[in-house]
Amino acid sequence: MASNLSLHLSFLVSTLFIVTTLSSHKHTTLLNVTSSLHQAHQILTSTPNLLEQSTPTTTPTPHLLQSSTSFSLHLHPRETLLNSNSPNYKTLVLARLARDSARVTSLHLKLQLALTSLARSDLHPTRPEDLSAPVSSGIGQGSGEYFSRVAVGNPPKPFFMVIDTGSDVNWLQCKPCSDCYQQTDPIYDPTASSSYAPLTCDAQQCQNLETSACRNQRCLYQVSYGDGSFTVGEYVTETVSLGSGSVNRVAIGCGHDNEGLFVGAAGLLGLGGGPLSLTNQIKATSFSYCLVDRDSGKSSTLEFNSPRPSDSVTAQLIKNQKLNTFYYIKLTGFSVGGEAISVPPETFDVDQSGAGGVIVDSGTAITRLRTQAYEAVRDAFRRMTQNLRSAEGVALFDTCYDMSSLQTVRVPTVAFHFGGGQTWNLPAKNYLIPVDGAGTYCFAFAPTSSPLSIIGNVQQQGTRVSFDLANSVVGFSPNKC
Ligand SMILES: *[C@@H]1O[C@H](CO)[C@@H](O)[C@H](O)[C@H]1NC(C)=O
Repeated sequence: MASNLSLHLSFLVSTLFIVTTLSSHKHTTLLNVTSSLHQAHQILTSTPNLLEQSTPTTTPTPHLLQSSTSFSLHLHPRETLLNSNSPNYKTLVLARLARDSARVTSLHLKLQLALTSLARSDLHPTRPEDLSAPVSSGIGQGSGEYFSRVAVGNPPKPFFMVIDTGSDVNWLQCKPCSDCYQQTDPIYDPTASSSYAPLTCDAQQCQNLETSACRNQRCLYQVSYGDGSFTVGEYVTETVSLGSGSVNRVAIGCGHDNEGLFVGAAGLLGLGGGPLSLTNQIKATSFSYCLVDRDSGKSSTLEFNSPRPSDSVTAQLIKNQKLNTFYYIKLTGFSVGGEAISVPPETFDVDQSGAGGVIVDSGTAITRLRTQAYEAVRDAFRRMTQNLRSAEGVALFDTCYDMSSLQTVRVPTVAFHFGGGQTWNLPAKNYLIPVDGAGTYCFAFAPTSSPLSIIGNVQQQGTRVSFDLANSVVGFSPNKC
């Protein structure tokens, strides 16, 4: 009887009634259906305007950065750089989700290779010819969800680069191309830069590469992303200008053969935890980003060495001895609608073998949780949303709603617990996302059969995520874009 009544009420467009219906759940938060649908429609019709609004194509030679100086870069979501070319919002969402699956596969593969020591020796080809062999065919749909503009060389030339917390090696497409994909900026030309310097094979940076080879005493690199995309070329040092400052002799790949995923951007900045990442090369004590809503058409910042916002919820940053690239955090559980969801305490730990754990990733969209934990969270959410009209699942989502008749709706809160009383409450739009332009929303989490869980960028949207490397803490601070 009561649920029947709430069912009827939910069909009423009046917000007031809907609020009343759900008031029996103590912990609810507002989802503004009107505004998110409006944004979804806008992203399809807006044209990328990034080139005009960003830095001019010739930058004055910046001053040298002192280590520990703070500086910041603009950060742009993919759709502000690339035309989505999608006829409708659902097509755009499905393309994003397909990219997302490829991303998750590549992270799992990277970890698997690190844990399977026997594969290591096979990964070290000794002959340069071995480096040019494609791993498999590229899927060519384009990856990289957030981009920054950095300048490389002397004189400095600006490039759009994908930022990636899930890898370490920096690289950009480089003349002469044996195979370069299409990019927005002119391709980097080493002959036009006085600071270009090849690394020798015995250089420490060359030794630190997972896959390298030697030709005429020069270091060659290869990075494969596990989904068919890869880059191969010379491993060199260059001057990299970040915001108002520059850093000399940053190891970077000059990619002559690049295939697969990185359509649009000139290359990639690795922000991972390994020695070759940009973060480690510039000895950053911390970095932080805020990922604007991907449909918003806005930009935010990527900051280095800035203090963590004082209101941030913190999680312990954990090292995996088998793989230093990923940023693992201590996750202890969840609550839905204010109710704690019980999961066995070891669910999210990195085990002895280096498997398991939870990473925070800038490049994965949808948070993946170990199946058992996912089901517990989802079941609680479903139980508390029986007043909403449910809809068919879409792609990897199994919990969807028809909100086409609603303008705003109160929904149960969803929170992550990090231990020590630290609770990160997600805004409703970070877990109920539109999957078409017609008002179908899905609960934006997914199960993974792998023991590795991933906190994705949909859940991080609008939140400043601070990687405080010096203190081994990751901070989450809402509304800090
Ligand atoms: C929902 O969003 C619309 C459009 O952005 C705005 O006009 C409206 O005030 C919002 N409603 C609430 C309850 O915040």
